[in-house]
Order: sequence, then C-alpha cells, then structure tokens
Amino acid sequence: MSHLPRRTTITDVARAAQVSIQTVSAVFHNKPGISDRTRERVRRTIQRLHFEPNGLASSLRAQRSLTVGVLIPSITNPFFPDFVRGIEDTAHLHQYSIFLCNSDQDQSKETQYLQLLRRHNVAGYVVAYDLNNLEVEKILMQLSLLHTPVVTFGSRQVHKRVTVLATDDEDGSFRITSHLIELGHRRIGLIQPPARGRVNLHRTRGYRRALKRAGLTAKGDYIVPGGFTIADGQRGIEQLMAVTPAPTAVVAANDLVAIGAISALKRMGKRVPGDVSIAGFDNIQMSDLVDPPITTISQPTYEMGKRAMGAILEQIENPDCSGRIIHFDIPLIIRGSTAIPSVQSTAKKVKS
Ligand code: RIB
Repeated sequence: MSHLPRRTTITDVARAAQVSIQTVSAVFHNKPGISDRTRERVRRTIQRLHFEPNGLASSLRAQRSLTVGVLIPSITNPFFPDFVRGIEDTAHLHQYSIFLCNSDQDQSKETQYLQLLRRHNVAGYVVAYDLNNLEVEKILMQLSLLHTPVVTFGSRQVHKRVTVLATDDEDGSFRITSHLIELGHRRIGLIQPPARGRVNLHRTRGYRRALKRAGLTAKGDYIVPGGFTIADGQRGIEQLMAVTPAPTAVVAANDLVAIGAISALKRMGKRVPGDVSIAGFDNIQMSDLVDPPITTISQPTYEMGKRAMGAILEQIENPDCSGRIIHFDIPLIIRGSTAIPSVQSTAKKVKS
C-alpha cells in the first residue's frame, strides 16, 4: 500500500462545492458564464482543500484525456509487467490511467497502436520499441512537435522533447561475459536477443568486446540467433550443445532465455553450472527462485516505469520543457548458475 499523501483532485473540489468538474475547471481558468456566488464558493473550496493546478488541470486545458498510452513489445516478458506497474502506480497517484498496447515487436502493430492512441487523444506516450521503425519515429516526432509528452525505451532520441530511458546494454553484456572469462571459461556461447534490434546489436558487441579483451575470438558457431522467450532458450542451447566442442558457458539474451536453456540442459542430463554455466539479463523476480538461481544483469524496471511517468507528468505541467536522457545503472548480480568450468568440460578442448 502506498504511504504517499493523496493529492486533492478536481473531483474532490467539485463534490465539496456541489458543482460539476467542468464548473471547477471554468472557475479555475476564469471562464465566463458562472454566477458570482458559485464562483466564490468554488474558489473558497479550492483554497480550503489546497487544490493545486496539476496534470489534470493542464489536461482539461488541452482537452486531452486523463490516459497515458503505453506501448510495449510483449506483456509475457516479465521485464514489462514491472515496468508497466511503475508507470501505473505513478499515473494513479496523479489521477491518470493507462492504455496498454502490446506490439509483439510487429512494426505494423506498433504503427497501428500509435494511431489508435492518437485517436484517443491520450495525454502522453511511453513507447518501448527496439527495431528501427521509421513510421513509429515519424509519429513520435509529430507528437513532439505538438508538445505531446513522449518517453521511449530501447531507442534513440528522435526529437529534443522526447525523454529516453537509457541502459548501457553493451556494457552489461561486456561485464557478464567478462565474469564468465574471469571464472576460467574460454568457450562461451551467446543466445542473441531478437535479430535486427538495437538490444541485439549492443549486447552482441559487448560479448565480442569482452572476448577480444581476453584474447579470445568469438567463434561463429557459438553465436546463435534467439529472442526473448523460454522457447528461444531451449532452441538456442540445443544448437550450442550440438557444436563440437560445446561451450562451457552461455550468455542468454535475458533471464527467460536462461530459464529455457537451463530446463533443456537438465533434460539432456547436464548439470548447471557443473557442466555448463548460464548467465541471463534483467534480474526478473523469478531469476532468484529457479534452481540454480541465475547470474544476471539487474535492470531497475519498476523504477524505470516510475521515471517514465514522472517525465510525462513534468511535460504535461510544462509543455515547453525539453526531453532528457535518463540513465539507469544495471549492476551484475552473481548467483549459482555460473561457476568455474569443470575439469571434464575443459578437457574436451584438449581432445578437439
Ligand atoms: O526489450 C526490452 C527488454 O526486454 C530488454 O532489455 C531485455 O533484456 C528484455 O527482457
């Protein structure tokens, strides 16, 4: 339960003064057509309840709805429920609600949903998209020109009024790969994030950079295309285990992929981390509960959602303020799914 004080809403004022919300808004904006008596009563109620102009008032002014559009790639990826929760909790505190759309990383769905949100005249947009979608960027730019607040995640800043939630994917991938190298692994595989996206580009780059720094080369067979689902992890690990010699450690695209890889390895009769170390990305709640708990990079998803909605509210209050790049730290969390390579698994290298 939240312990933050509840803000007085326009509905509270309307109820206390026994008038409609529109009347409160009209008094607030000094509009004509209200009797002096009513105007005075509303004014006194506004003062008594300490009602302050906020996003709600601005929304009424701009005739926007009290809804914020949230477009994410996949609600089944546990990264996003926490992210959306952060948005929603903050929105709720300020009398906003959210309109949630799931794009499945389908570019035409992304465009269609943004058009739909526009028709609903939402007060602001939080858009998580990873693939270069020019159509989406065009819409976000138009919205920014109209001073509609936009926050994006996973993409570049398309306009100076857009706020970007930024995490250093390349560095995260570099650090988790370096952790495996420091444990003594020399044959390290990668199950990649969805092809063609920025996350894939940056994380693959971080993985390669860590290997290069250690004087190792990224073997083509050890980099397999993947995605962000359990099935991607199962498929990816099967492919990697079929390579001779197989990797002794694998960097998975995210924790769900790591879970898929661990379950498939168990089915093959292999031990994690005894035979193969597995590392994930995200630090979803489940990553600490599975057996073994997953070594991962922690992304502050709830906080990111809160900051996204905070930025939207800021721009509703002050439509001229420019966007920002908000950086989030993504620390490495070491758990039981990674360990030194066993003598047996490294011995295979000698034979090959
Ligand atoms: O695509 C957004 C996020 O979902 C990524 O950062 C990734 O780790 C995933 O699970």
